[in-house]
Amino acid sequence: MSRIAYVNGQYVPHADAAVHVEDRGYQFADGVYEVCEVWQGKIVDVPRHLERLGRSLSELRIDWPMARKAVEFVLHQVVRRNRVRNGLVYIQVTRGVSKRDHFFPPEHVAPSIVVTARSSNPKAAAAQAAEGIAVVSYPENRWPRVDIKTVALLPNVLAKQNAKEHGGKEAWYVDADGYVTEGGSTNAWIVTKDGVLVTRPAESGILRGITRTVVLDLIQKEGLTFEERPFSLEEAFDAKEAFVTAATSVVMPVIRLDGKLIGNGHPGSVATRLREVFHTATDLQAV
Ligand code: PDD
Repeated sequence: MSRIAYVNGQYVPHADAAVHVEDRGYQFADGVYEVCEVWQGKIVDVPRHLERLGRSLSELRIDWPMARKAVEFVLHQVVRRNRVRNGLVYIQVTRGVSKRDHFFPPEHVAPSIVVTARSSNPKAAAAQAAEGIAVVSYPENRWPRVDIKTVALLPNVLAKQNAKEHGGKEAWYVDADGYVTEGGSTNAWIVTKDGVLVTRPAESGILRGITRTVVLDLIQKEGLTFEERPFSLEEAFDAKEAFVTAATSVVMPVIRLDGKLIGNGHPGSVATRLREVFHTATDLQAV
């Protein structure tokens, strides 16, 4: 079956899906995005993702490309037309196509919108979660507005590639004070030896992950002990457990950090439990 993408009002074969060479996303990374998980034929947390998309757009003064309800409709269409049961749906909005010029384009230039979806293998994801992943620390070198989900991901690309070249699946950014901010494309968590879950506050230095917000709800429900505060790399080395959260990996145990084992070197019980019950705390829209 051929894949379909949505590009500026049209559903087109994925192989032919393209934006103009003078799209500002291409030339200036002048755009934002969202990734929603598709789980068992349902799109996860669409309202929260569209809420955050709206925030990212407004922070950058980019208009919605169309009504929010219409964006929601397209998300469903793209998932359905690609027959995705498990995987993800990606949405990108840029400031549009205009002659290359750093200043904002004229008012009449419409934002560009692209939506794609792809399937993933839930068995492979489960196997990865049963094994856990290694992460590799990296000096924080991003701009201060990481709360905006922009497509300007070059620092993330370089940090993640460095992790890969050192045997890891994710990078953990460490700020100038030695505190972990977040992953290259995930939020970072530890469980201390006393069983306290710790993650950095979303007020600065990180993206307010939707998966993170769901996990915070679950922590309440499950009656777990939790502290929202920065944690250092040293504290992470000493933790009982560590894990990362994102729409692309839900809750993924971390078993190694910079080559050192975390806890007993196996996925911890807290991360495993949170992963198991994760979708009970999400909003699920059947496609
Ligand atoms: N990344 N932090 C960063 C830097 C991210 O890029 C992401 C998501 C997260 C987690 O956010 P959420 O739980 O809403 O997915 C945190 C997406 C999945 C990506 O770039 O592929």
